[in-house]
Amino acid sequence: MKRLRYLLITSLALLGCKQVTASVNIIPQPTCIEVKKGCYVLPEKLTIGYNNEILEPAAQYLIEKLAPATGYNITPKKGVKGNISLQLTSPVNQEDESYTLQSSIEGVTIESSSYKGIIHGISTLRQLLPYQIEAEAVIRGLKWEVPAVKIQDAPIYEWRGLMLDPVRHFYSVSETKRLIDIMALYKFSKFHWHLIDSQAWRIEIKKYPMLTDKGAWRNPKEEYIDVACEQRAINEKNPVMHLPQNYFKNQDGKRLYGGYYTQDDIREIVAYAAVRGIDVVPEIDMPGHNWMATQCYPWLSCGHDGTDPLCLGSDSVMQFCRDVFKEVFELFPYNFTEIGGDEVGRGKWANCPLCQARIKEQNLGGLEELQSWFTREMEKYFNENGRRLIGWDEILEGGVSPTATVNWWQGYHGDVVQRSTAGGNEVICCPTTYCYFDYPQDNNTMRTLYEGDVVPTDLSAEQKKLVKGMQANIWCEYIPSEARMQYMVFPRALALAEKAWTTQSQQGWDSYLYRLNDHLMRLSTMKVNYRPLNE
Ligand code: ACM
Ligand code: ZN
Repeated sequence: MKRLRYLLITSLALLGCKQVTASVNIIPQPTCIEVKKGCYVLPEKLTIGYNNEILEPAAQYLIEKLAPATGYNITPKKGVKGNISLQLTSPVNQEDESYTLQSSIEGVTIESSSYKGIIHGISTLRQLLPYQIEAEAVIRGLKWEVPAVKIQDAPIYEWRGLMLDPVRHFYSVSETKRLIDIMALYKFSKFHWHLIDSQAWRIEIKKYPMLTDKGAWRNPKEEYIDVACEQRAINEKNPVMHLPQNYFKNQDGKRLYGGYYTQDDIREIVAYAAVRGIDVVPEIDMPGHNWMATQCYPWLSCGHDGTDPLCLGSDSVMQFCRDVFKEVFELFPYNFTEIGGDEVGRGKWANCPLCQARIKEQNLGGLEELQSWFTREMEKYFNENGRRLIGWDEILEGGVSPTATVNWWQGYHGDVVQRSTAGGNEVICCPTTYCYFDYPQDNNTMRTLYEGDVVPTDLSAEQKKLVKGMQANIWCEYIPSEARMQYMVFPRALALAEKAWTTQSQQGWDSYLYRLNDHLMRLSTMKVNYRPLNE
């Protein structure tokens, strides 16, 4: 009880609001909560009203979330208030993610000037209900109470991301959707999808079918990471380290491992994320990390030798890159697209006559400048197609255009954010130091992230404005299954969600940990294989 009172007092002081009670355990912590007397009990004949047709998918989504556990007959109603009312306020501003949620004995109202704000209100409403609301089947004998509150809430960063790598190991459409679904509950805004790498090509490109016919599959006996995962499964007696059997197929007497997303699959995932207020950011990593593409089409490589990286001296290769992105732009409506650009083995370009001719013709200083020339050429193409380019922080090397956005990942290069923002580039912070969710965890890892400076503190006010936000990266070399992925990602992703949503003065480890307990039960109910707090 002493601990509880301490939490109440600190939360009150932090939020500057009238009252906060322990039964309201929301992550990320809302900007302002007033808890009032009483609660609203969901009625068996529940209606969800909405005032604008663009909220119809949000109403359907809320029904999907409330119906299984309650077993209630829930009807959406346009133009009517409803027991739960979703209200788009005017003027509509789709960039404004703030929302207000008010509940009383009469019902619940969520208001926002944007679709995304309404979705955030829905996530808060779910978290106000008992955690059992996340169950897949009817739970009887529970009152579905929403405490009476007024919540006013808005994020500090627009970019609150998770990056998933389905290349090293494949994740099906339904596994990907499950991750996106949990992201929505914690108000993440961007799903960065790393779709190609040296070990596989996972996105169907109609003009180059071999990329997936051949490049989405491999012999796991010949791939180091596959052998290593299987070995760990045995050594550590850990079944979630095995390669999932459903991603194997027999072909020409060989047992191959892999999979890919058809263009229809991609559209399905993009639409699913959009309903949940999440933008999907595709990454087609170029010009490095392309061993598999060069195996499929050896002419993509210097000397046509079928090894990484792409040959930037070849006009056909430049055309290939544009062709791939043309199909990508048609599939992904969000205006930011990732070109990657990390860890390029540039040395090979030194011995390639075509790459050397390009350097000469473009009057470039050397190999770094050749990559920089490529990135600028691609950025022109992105911009002509209404897209903005993001790249890993190596795109700074050799000079970067001020309109490119930089993904800071090399935590050991602490000056990247300083340099990028000084040059006018926007930055997304995902340094190895805190944000690599493939890195092993101990009992302090989540606290180190929660209390760490994911955004460096040495920036001027002008530079701070160029920080778009934060994300964590889930590289999957040693994460072969969904269960293993969930173990690596949760619950620490909730710490990142709170950091990216709240100001530092709203954050407090004790309060977070207290609220987290409720969320661990919520994650269990959702059958998420999270890492227990003290293992
Ligand atoms: C990276 O981790 N190579 C971006
Ligand atoms: Zn070359």
